[in-house]
This record gives sequence, C-alpha cells and structure tokens, in this order.
Amino acid sequence: MVKVITYGTYDMLHRGHIRLLERAKALGDYLIVGVTADDFDKTRGKINVQQSLMERIDGVKSTGLADEIIVEEYEGQKIDDIKKYDVDIFTVGSDWKGKFDYLNEYCKVVYLERTQGVSSTEIREQKRQLRMGLVGESKYLCKLLKESTYVNGLSIEAIYSDSLDDVPVELKKLKTVTDNLDVFINAVDAVYIRSFPTKHYEQIKKVLNAGKHVLCESPITLDKQQCKELFELAQAKGCILMEAIKTAYNTAFSRLVLLAKSGKIGDIVSVDATCTSLKELAANEVEKLTVWNSAFDWGPTAMLPVFEILGTNYKLKRIVTHYIDKERNFDDFTKMDFTYDNAVASIKVGMGVKSEGELIVSGTKGYIYVPAPWWKTDYFELRYENAADNRRYFYQLDGEGIRYELVAFVRAIDNGRMARYIEEYVSEAISSIVSDFHNGIDVIAIKN
Ligand code: CTP
Repeated sequence: MVKVITYGTYDMLHRGHIRLLERAKALGDYLIVGVTADDFDKTRGKINVQQSLMERIDGVKSTGLADEIIVEEYEGQKIDDIKKYDVDIFTVGSDWKGKFDYLNEYCKVVYLERTQGVSSTEIREQKRQLRMGLVGESKYLCKLLKESTYVNGLSIEAIYSDSLDDVPVELKKLKTVTDNLDVFINAVDAVYIRSFPTKHYEQIKKVLNAGKHVLCESPITLDKQQCKELFELAQAKGCILMEAIKTAYNTAFSRLVLLAKSGKIGDIVSVDATCTSLKELAANEVEKLTVWNSAFDWGPTAMLPVFEILGTNYKLKRIVTHYIDKERNFDDFTKMDFTYDNAVASIKVGMGVKSEGELIVSGTKGYIYVPAPWWKTDYFELRYENAADNRRYFYQLDGEGIRYELVAFVRAIDNGRMARYIEEYVSEAISSIVSDFHNGIDVIAIKN
C-alpha cells in the first residue's frame, strides 16, 4: 500500500484545495492530511485564518478524499509523522517548491502544480477589507502600520492628529491625513488610538457614536466610570471596543496565566513584574505631552499579569513615584504594591530608570520565571525546589505580538463580539489605578 501525506491550513475550503487533495490521493492508496493548528500557522505568517481548527478539519473531511486527518502542531512534526505513519510520498502544492526537499531523506517528495486563480488569502480579502485609521503622533504607529501588512482583511488608510507637525513622515503618506476628527471618522471603519490618555475618552466616545470600532492603547480612560460608560456605549452601538496591551495577545503570556491558575505552582502568593526602558526625551516633549510618563506607558502592561492572575479585588494599594516634572505628573520611575487577602503583588515601571524586566509568579509549590523582556516573551520556565522537575515552555512570537492584537480585533469585528483577551473588569481596574496616579491619590513622591 502506498501511503501519501500532505499538509495545509485549508481555511475556507476552495477548489484549489480539492484539486490538490484529488491528485494527492491519486498518487497512492491511502491519503493522510495534516491540518495546521492555529498557533503553529502564525509561524508561517498566515494570520487571520477565518475558520477554527475544527471547522477546517470538517472541511477536509467533507471532501471524502482523506483516509486519515491529523493535526500539525509543531515545527519538525513532518519528519516525525513520515516515520510514524510509514509514509511513502510527501506532497504539497508548487508554491512550496524546494522548501521540502529535505524530506527526500525520508520519503519521495512530489510538488503538485498549484491551481491558478484561487487562494484562501484572496477569499479572506474579498470577504471584507476593514479600513483602519490611526489617532496620535507616536512613532509606535509606524510599527503598527508595518505589522498591519501581515494581517488579512485590514488596511490602514488614515491618520488623525491635533498636532500634525509631530506626525512621523511615514504616516503622512496615508490616504487621509487630517486634524479634523469628523473627516477622519468618515474615512474609516475602525480606529486605533494612541493619543495622550487624557484625550482618549472624548475621542473614543465620538468614534463609537459614529458606529465605528475602537482599538485603544491602554489605559482606555483615566476614570473607571468613564471606562464602564464607554464599554456600555460600544455594546449599545454594536461596536467593538478593545484595549491594546500587546502582551495580552501573546501566546506565551496567555499560557503562563493559565498554568499559574491551574495550580501547577500551588497557591499563588506573589506576582512581581518589572517593565523599564531608557528613552532620551527631547526638550519640549514632556511639556507638549507627546511622550507618556512611565505610569501611563508601562503601568497597564505591568498590571496585566497581576490582575489576570490575582484578580482586581486587592485590599490595599500603594504607589511610590519618582517625578521628573511633578506639575505634569511626569514620573521616570514608579513602584506599586497591591495587597490581597492571601497574596501580594508589586510592579516597577520606569522610563528613564533601568532594571531587570522580568516577571516572577511565586507559589507554594514552585514559581514561574519569565526572563526580560517578559512583556514580549516567547519563553518561560516553571521552576521547583528540585531542579529536575523544572519545565521550559517555548512559543512563537512575531512582531512583538502587535499583529496578533490586530488579528484579534479584526476577528472580534467579524464575529460581532468582544474578544476576551482582557476582561472589562481588568480594563476598569487599570483605568482606575492610572487615574489615581494622575490625580495624586494614594501616591507618595520620593522626589518633587
Ligand atoms: N493549493 C493549491 N492550489 C491553490 C491553493 C492551494 O494547490 N490555488 C494547495 C497548496 O499548495 C497546499 C494545499 O493546497 O498544498 C493547502 O493550501 P493552503 O495553504 O491551506 O491554502 P492557500 O489557498 O494556499 O492559502 P493561502 O492563500 O492562505 O496561502
């Protein structure tokens, strides 16, 4: 019996897939189809796959051509599969020509001519092209523009700023460049906001009232009540309002939160997160508020693991800060402590002070260690008293997680419901703490 194996994503099954499977089947007597799992597929830059793994498996099943369907979950799996299933022929479409020649060592490799004129990417793009606009002046928006090119069904077309002179030149090439918010809103279906946090509330409200979706850099607002109100408004308008903390969309991060909650390190007693960066500030940046202080810039990211793991029901909080411009609430370093009934947490953030950017979650049986920079990690460890029990976990991370955040946003819009990467109560807690910092509530200054 000649065994044939082939792999693919098989998103929104089309005639190119069916023709490929027919010819693959004809190469032998038994056809095994490997359907690529979601996460793994990101590693090939194929993101915004529309169908779930189960739906894609069902699609392949419905062709009646596969004798066996397996899931492709990790890189290097092909060799394992070929040995395990005693495969004679490996085949894929000619778009992969040459890429799998290394498998010749294990079986025969056949590239089949790709069917012209059809692909999942095209189908996804025809389905809907979301026009996105950017709000703000930050250089970070250039990164976002670049990352958006990896996401199917999304194109960034406009920028709004009330200070156009400060917008990076790269962004001035977009189709619509304006300081008129109404003109901007009309030109787009969804917006990404990275303006100074004091402006968020009014801007988000206006965009939502126009029936457009919002992805907003954290903190969403500087007031818990306003944050709640905006989520309610989004719901009433049938729009998506999502908080942009890229770490929340990172696979390694979400896995470590799940592992921490699953009891792998016993009861959690402490969460300690540090995020710092050294940044040269231009003379009037602080004055013009075109840069964020460390509590705004890093605070939400550092609070994320604390609230995701321990919840937001802390009993006490204390903020100690080091201002460089007290009048404008501009700190270069801040430490926050949270006391819960059975646990404690502390975060350290700095934008002009450098420290080890690690995350440690301590439990009664062991601890999770995420090395610096933990907020864009692809790796973490579970560590125990007996080092032989330690475990290491690796996950692919591309583009610092920004592209995954964009994919989650597009999907939430397509599905008509909020993606639950960051729960609303976490967003509200972040808003409320950053607001306390902004208003000097519970803040001790170590320098004025
Ligand atoms: N395939 C093909 N002809 C097409 C499209 C795909 O022969 N027009 C083949 C691919 O070469 C591969 C298999 O079908 O062997 C599964 O392809 P997959 O990557 O899932 O589909 P694509 O349509 O190529 O997806 P995308 O557009 O996202 O690259």
